[in-house]
Amino acid sequence: MASRKIMLDEEEIPKQWYSILSDLPKPLPPMLNPETREPVPPQALEAVFAKELVKQEASRERWITIPEEVREVYRLWRPTPLYRAINLEKALKTPAKIYYKYEGVSPPGSHKPNTAVAQAYYNMKEGTKRLTTETGAGQWGSALAFGCMLFGMKSTIYMVKASYYQKPYRRVMMETWGAEVFPSPSEKTKFGTKVLEDDPECSGSLGISISEAVEDAVTHEDAKYTLGSVVNHVLLHQTVVGQETQKQMELLDDYPDLIAGCIGGGSSFSGLYWPFYYDKVSGKSPKETEFLAVESTACPKVTRGYYTYDHGDSARMTPLVKMHTLSHMFVPPPIHAGGLRYHGMAPTLCLLKEEGIVKSKAYNQVKTFEAATLFAKTEGILPAPEPAHAIKAAVDEALECKKTGEKKTILFLLCGHGYFDMQAYDDYNSGKLPPYEYPKEKVEESMRKLKALYPWLDVKI
Ligand SMILES: Cc1ncc(COP(=O)(O)O)c(C=O)c1O
Repeated sequence: MASRKIMLDEEEIPKQWYSILSDLPKPLPPMLNPETREPVPPQALEAVFAKELVKQEASRERWITIPEEVREVYRLWRPTPLYRAINLEKALKTPAKIYYKYEGVSPPGSHKPNTAVAQAYYNMKEGTKRLTTETGAGQWGSALAFGCMLFGMKSTIYMVKASYYQKPYRRVMMETWGAEVFPSPSEKTKFGTKVLEDDPECSGSLGISISEAVEDAVTHEDAKYTLGSVVNHVLLHQTVVGQETQKQMELLDDYPDLIAGCIGGGSSFSGLYWPFYYDKVSGKSPKETEFLAVESTACPKVTRGYYTYDHGDSARMTPLVKMHTLSHMFVPPPIHAGGLRYHGMAPTLCLLKEEGIVKSKAYNQVKTFEAATLFAKTEGILPAPEPAHAIKAAVDEALECKKTGEKKTILFLLCGHGYFDMQAYDDYNSGKLPPYEYPKEKVEESMRKLKALYPWLDVKI
């Protein structure tokens, strides 16, 4: 009988993280100072991030040792299970095999603590007393609150206002772990106050929350800022996911033809596919594995956005970063997948997309909840709205295999559970979910604003 659930021993928790930087087909374009257009050295980031994290951000070392204290915390929930979705396969009548790596078993319920714990640890070692951050769906904020609690630090979380009210229990979780949580835009910061003056009804965006969290950190001596996605060191910490999956697939004597993951800023998907990408570049991969990044049609940065320089936040406090973007002035519709409402994307993923190594697809939330519901009815777990995008892509691929008769091995990342997302399921079940698509014309309008701000940008609209 085929295994449904593949577990590893605690001893198999990876001892190193894998960094992709030295294996990219070309170097990442440098960050730029928007005024001088000169490259910004990574050390400039020490104003906001812990020194060790800045070192990791630019490190050319391929393997970076995971501190034992961090591995010790990982033992609370790692290694995470890899499942074969046999019931889903049967329901789809597909000849394909479908596997999913499940990160929802962590205490905060997603992959996010893989990096939150590491970031809290390094900050604690460097004497930081308080960490600030933004959160969309509340998953990242919960993870950071959890990490800070474990290492005796305070945390301040700016939660996108739309999610703050849609997901009150995420706030309660963060507060229980000792965090202070503000709906963003808030009057706690100068930037938030200004946004509210201009638009008192503003539902917020990750770009706005990032600006508030950065402002809070740079205006307080004992505080540092942390990010839950996009930057290299965050993606690096997530590679425990892919390394464990490789061992689990090895036990099954199988290897994926397709690896799919949802992308908000790209951290969970990168954590899964980077180690398999390394297999490819080092000649160890037995297959021409396809990497598929799946996003929301409400926030289609990779499928409809432009590959150019942009700020990571709305207040333009960050340097300019080369990535796929909808512009930092873009405020996405309030979809339930709050974690996918970010205007930009991890620069490594963008570079690989431009090189044709990573492919992308977008779905609207009605389609993704249709897939999430089918998954819940066959496999039991109610997925978070974000990984529902990856489920939809896996289902489509499996249905394609049904047509062609191909026996592909499909692997996707179920990066979080959806047990705090009942409102979303209720809206879907009662047919109230709008299938938001962000129109091409609106994207162009947003990019014209960016071009007006920086006319030297190579953007052809
Ligand atoms: C459960 C979940 N999945 C995915 C994401 C998207 O982020 P990333 O692309 O960095 O994994 C988020 C972000 O908040 C999330 O909470």
